[in-house]
Amino acid sequence: MADPILQFEDVSLSYDDKLVLDRINLTVNPGDTYILIGAAGSGKTVLLKLAMSLIKPSAGRIKLLGRDITDLKETDLFEIRSEVGVLFQEGGLFDSLTIAENVAYPLLNQKQLKAPEAEIEARVKESLEFVELGHTLDKFPSELSGGMRRRAGIARANVTNPKLSLYDSPTAGLDPITAYTIMSLILKQRDLRKTTTVLATHRYQDGAMAANYRWDEASHDVLRATPYGQYADLKTTFIVMNEGRIAFAGTQEQLEASRDPYVSQFVLHQPPPKLGQSGARGHLPA
Ligand SMILES: Nc1ncnc2c1ncn2[C@@H]1O[C@H](COP(=O)(O)OP(=O)(O)OP(=O)(O)O)[C@@H](O)[C@H]1O
Ligand SMILES: [Mg+2]
Repeated sequence: MADPILQFEDVSLSYDDKLVLDRINLTVNPGDTYILIGAAGSGKTVLLKLAMSLIKPSAGRIKLLGRDITDLKETDLFEIRSEVGVLFQEGGLFDSLTIAENVAYPLLNQKQLKAPEAEIEARVKESLEFVELGHTLDKFPSELSGGMRRRAGIARANVTNPKLSLYDSPTAGLDPITAYTIMSLILKQRDLRKTTTVLATHRYQDGAMAANYRWDEASHDVLRATPYGQYADLKTTFIVMNEGRIAFAGTQEQLEASRDPYVSQFVLHQPPPKLGQSGARGHLPA
């Protein structure tokens, strides 16, 4: 078995006297998808921030790409952080920068990636074209729709071609069609670039889509990968958070079989929509 991408060992986090994560143990294996679901305040965002060492745990160890990052100083984190892409919950685009400048930001701020300007330009363009925003390079975030801004955020998260992508609530506040587009692009990144994916969401549909659909380059859309519930080569682990603890970790089938009253609240007892099954859906909507 390949080495884990990310490991939490008995990780706890407190703010003042409040325990917000309680002895989290978690292993993220290469190529797999992890869906973090849980009520508001259950600890999804702090868990993702710990994974990038944007905050430090109060106890426990965190290993990223085989390296113990628990006590690493900010200056020693640049290099390893460049292997991780992140879409923050609030999007996090800088209003005063153009879309191209926003997407270039992770490249400019990572010393070891100091690429020549022409190469940076090419990578920014490629990254924006990947999310079908090639025409927005010189626009400002305020000139784009909410869904387009989210797509620009995905382009920025993945411009460094990271081994691990973290998406914090990428579909929150979006209409169902735009949410579908955003999830499709996340699966496109996962399946074409083989990026290990951790995604926090309130929407069970997002997890069901990640577990059962794959990007299909021929039809330029996601397609149902296998019959419902059977996905041998497509491993998605659902992790249900409850007040700073992992209340459940397992497959979609195991989650749907759970009788735990808290855990089962997060399950929609119906198969995911059959969108995409008919093949081409046309271009991605804004
Ligand atoms: N900087 C901070 N100072 C104090 N408490 C914090 C801080 N950041 C997070 N918390 C607390 O940690 C807990 C977990 O917060 P977190 O943002 O991870 O929840 P979440 O699961 O992402 O919620 P949501 O679904 O609303 O995004 C909450 O009780 C929150 O108030
Ligand atoms: Mg959050």
